[in-house]
Amino acid sequence: MAEVIPAGEALGRALSLLDTGEVVAIPTETVYGLAGDATNGAAVARIFEAKGRPRFNPLIAHVADLAMAERIGVFDPLSRKLAQEFWPGPLTLVLPLRPEAGIHPLVTAGLATIALRMPRGFGNGLIARLGRPLAAPSANSSGRISATSAAAVEADLGGRIPLVVDGGQTPVGLESTIVKADGGRLLLLRPGGIAADEVEAVAGVKLERGATGVQSPGMLASHYAPGAAMRLNVEAVRPGEALLAFGASRVPGFEGAAAMKNLSPSGDLREAAANLFGFMQALDRTGAGVIAVEPIPAHGLGEAINDRLARAAAPRDKPLPPA
Ligand code: TXA
Ligand code: MG
Repeated sequence: MAEVIPAGEALGRALSLLDTGEVVAIPTETVYGLAGDATNGAAVARIFEAKGRPRFNPLIAHVADLAMAERIGVFDPLSRKLAQEFWPGPLTLVLPLRPEAGIHPLVTAGLATIALRMPRGFGNGLIARLGRPLAAPSANSSGRISATSAAAVEADLGGRIPLVVDGGQTPVGLESTIVKADGGRLLLLRPGGIAADEVEAVAGVKLERGATGVQSPGMLASHYAPGAAMRLNVEAVRPGEALLAFGASRVPGFEGAAAMKNLSPSGDLREAAANLFGFMQALDRTGAGVIAVEPIPAHGLGEAINDRLARAAAPRDKPLPPA
C-alpha cells in the first residue's frame, strides 16, 4: 500500500521520489494528479503503467509559473492573456511545443503541441522546488472516476504507487477546462472547472465546441464509468435505484431509492461539481445496479458536470469490476 502523508509534511518525500523517477499522487485544486517528472521517460512510463492507460493519450504538463510555461510552449497573445488571468487555476492551454524544452515525447504522445497548466497549492510549490514540469493525469485507473480525495486515490492506485500526498478534498472537483487558440479562434477541447462563459468574457471571443483533432481520453465516450449503470435526467426514480439528486425538490419515487446523495441541496453548480465524483463513487459502493440522476442545469459549470455524467452513462465494451 502507498504511504499517505499530509501535504504539510510531504514536500521532502515527494521531491526525493520524483527526483529518482518515481510517481507521486498529489492534490491539485481540480482533482488528484498522478505526477511524474515530465522530462524523464521512465517516470512518464510509470504513470501509464500505474493507470493502465493506453500510451497514445497525451498528458498535461504542470508548471510552477508563466516563465516555466514559456520555456515549454509557444504562447500566442490570446493564450498568454488567458494564462495571466486564470493561472494558477483550472485552465489548461494547448500550445505548440518547443522541441528543445526537454519534455519527454511520451508526455505529448509525439504530438507537436503540449497541454500546459499551472496548478494552485501543493503541486505548485512542489514543481517550483523540483525546477522541472510534472506530467500529471488524474490519479485514477484508466476509465475510472477521477479521485477528489486521498482515500479515493489510495483505494484505486494504492497498490501500485509509493506515495499519496493528502491535501484533503479537492475544492473544484472537476478536471481543468482545456482550450486551444487557433488563429483568432478559441476551441473548447474539454469543458471543466472554469465555466466556458468565464473564459469567453476574458478572451473576447466565443469558444467553439465540438472541436476534434486529438483523440483524448477526456473525449472517450465511456470515460469516468462507475460500476453501476447510469440513468440521466430522470423524471422518476425506480425502486432499488440509487439517486444522485440536485437542488431543493425531489423527483417522484425518491422515497424508494436504495441510497441518495444530493450534489447541492441549494442548487449551487460549484458545490455540485466539487461533490460529483465522490458522490458517484459513494453511490456505486452501495452496490445499487443503477444510479438515477436528476436533471442538472446546462449553464456555467453545469456543462462540464453534464459532460462527465454523459460519459459515465455511455455504453462500454466490458463491465468494470466494483471499485
Ligand atoms: O485538472 C486536470 O486537468 C487534471 C489535474 C491532475 O491537473 N489532469 C487531467 O489530466 O485531467 P488527464 O490526463 O486525465 O487529461 C488530460 C487531457 C486529456 O483529455 C488529453 O487528451 C488532453 O488533456 N491533452 C493533453 N495533451 C493534449 C494536446 N497536445 N492536444 C489536445 N489535448 C491534449
Ligand atoms: Mg483523467
